[in-house]
Amino acid sequence: MNKISPKLFLDFSEMNKCLLCADPACEKVCERNLPVGEILRSLYFENYHGAAVKLNGNDCSQCAGPCEQACVLSGRKVPVQIQDIFSGFLNESTRLPAHRIEEADISTEICGVKLENPFLLSSSVVASSYDMCARAFRAGWAGAAFKTICSFPQHEASPRFSAIRSHSHSFAGFKNIEQLSDHSVEENMQIFRELKKEFPDKVIVASIMGMNEEEWTYLAAECEKAGANIIECNFSCPNMEDSDLGITIGQSEELVERFTKAVKKGTKLPVLVKLTPNITDMVPLALAAKRGGADGIAAINTINSITGVNIDTLVAEPSVQGRSMIGGYSGAAVKPIALRFISDLSNCKELYDLHISGMGGIETWRDALEFILLGAGSVQVTTAVMQYGYRIIDDLIDGLKEYMKCKGISSLKDLIGAASSTVVAHTDIERDMVVFPVFRHERCYGCGRCYISCMDGGHQAISFDYEKRKPHLDPGKCVGCHLCMLVCPARAIETARKPVHREPLPK
Ligand SMILES: Cc1cc2nc3c(=O)[nH]c(=O)nc-3n(C[C@H](O)[C@H](O)[C@H](O)COP(=O)(O)O)c2cc1C
Repeated sequence: MNKISPKLFLDFSEMNKCLLCADPACEKVCERNLPVGEILRSLYFENYHGAAVKLNGNDCSQCAGPCEQACVLSGRKVPVQIQDIFSGFLNESTRLPAHRIEEADISTEICGVKLENPFLLSSSVVASSYDMCARAFRAGWAGAAFKTICSFPQHEASPRFSAIRSHSHSFAGFKNIEQLSDHSVEENMQIFRELKKEFPDKVIVASIMGMNEEEWTYLAAECEKAGANIIECNFSCPNMEDSDLGITIGQSEELVERFTKAVKKGTKLPVLVKLTPNITDMVPLALAAKRGGADGIAAINTINSITGVNIDTLVAEPSVQGRSMIGGYSGAAVKPIALRFISDLSNCKELYDLHISGMGGIETWRDALEFILLGAGSVQVTTAVMQYGYRIIDDLIDGLKEYMKCKGISSLKDLIGAASSTVVAHTDIERDMVVFPVFRHERCYGCGRCYISCMDGGHQAISFDYEKRKPHLDPGKCVGCHLCMLVCPARAIETARKPVHREPLPK
């Protein structure tokens, strides 16, 4: 297969300094009229082809660098070294694979409802008013799962978010203690009517939560009348512990089946059941949804969490007047957990006929593609939009299309579930072959991190020449665990092309 991900050696420490500003000052002063901010954004979101097209072969190394002088960091800190980033990328971009086909169709569908692309806003604050959805639709999102509608009043806390930050300014993970839509049902129905009139081709997913069967039926019927295309049952909000509400439904097969049936009674629209990851196994709950008549599963909602404790005030975060609560965790950190659930659902034969709408930590087109490869037919996003705005849709769409064009895949539908069968039981994993690491000394910084990790967290297979600052591998001791590769900051360790057969351990 055409390799889409040559290891581009970009200086991400520099890239991570970029604040992805609104109305970027760097862009306004470029003498060549390059969309500097957009190029930086495409690089940040790993849309390398898109960045290369926008850079258009321009070598910025000889320019006086007005973009760097205009950078908002200039004067306070060292500005982002944009020229270095761009010239480094220009060199590397020659390694990007060429297109095999001219066009890629990224349209898809949810149970017969057509989506112009697989990207929807997920139900949350990012899709909670007419104006917000309208701006998102204009930006290119195919649809929105609207903030969960209910008939009981909401009374939100302040503050209601906390975050774990990564090494850059972005969130590694994000916690919220928010509940449901604070508009009345009628206000929300009016929003649906207006959205449908203005954007007939965009898809409205009506997320609902009833207090009893009658109300589930009623809300589904109202949403259909107001123009929604799909109903999503919120059986998974972790921020309400009342019996028969939110997460408690998603933890009970009986309630999932009963309330799904109630929703189906009120509507002919496709029904997605949104499930919680706060369980051990999602499959029995998904099967209960299927028995209730669900047409698809949406997963995951947020994960019960405490992001931290303030060690000065001794209160867990976020502190609401000196108290906190367990709340829903989302964003980049939850992606591996979300992918695991998507994989479980798509590998269950009894669920083959159900659509899977995947979410949890999607920030880039690669993240989205991973959900699709494991079986999601559509994907939804909240936390990345909360951080970076609706504009991330540009690189989601562009990056996905570029990937498909390079791979020669004309239809997104051919990618759905393409990697599902590679996830197997632990008993079916090959254990008699070793893949050794290969050291690319020309790239090595000589930091010795591989050596430290192998000594204290591996199999003592790497020695370190302190004078030459060079690591050496002892293949006799190496078990091919690849810890060295993962800790190497220079990406100077690669995998050997061929695995080596190892004698099986005596039984
Ligand atoms: C602030 C916030 C509010 C949310 N509100 C809802 C909601 O009303 N209904 C719902 O089904 N999910 C809600 N979610 C969950 C998201 O729709 C989504 O399932 C989850 O955040 C994982 O995706 P992400 O990592 O892209 O954010 C909310 C999430 C956040 C962060």
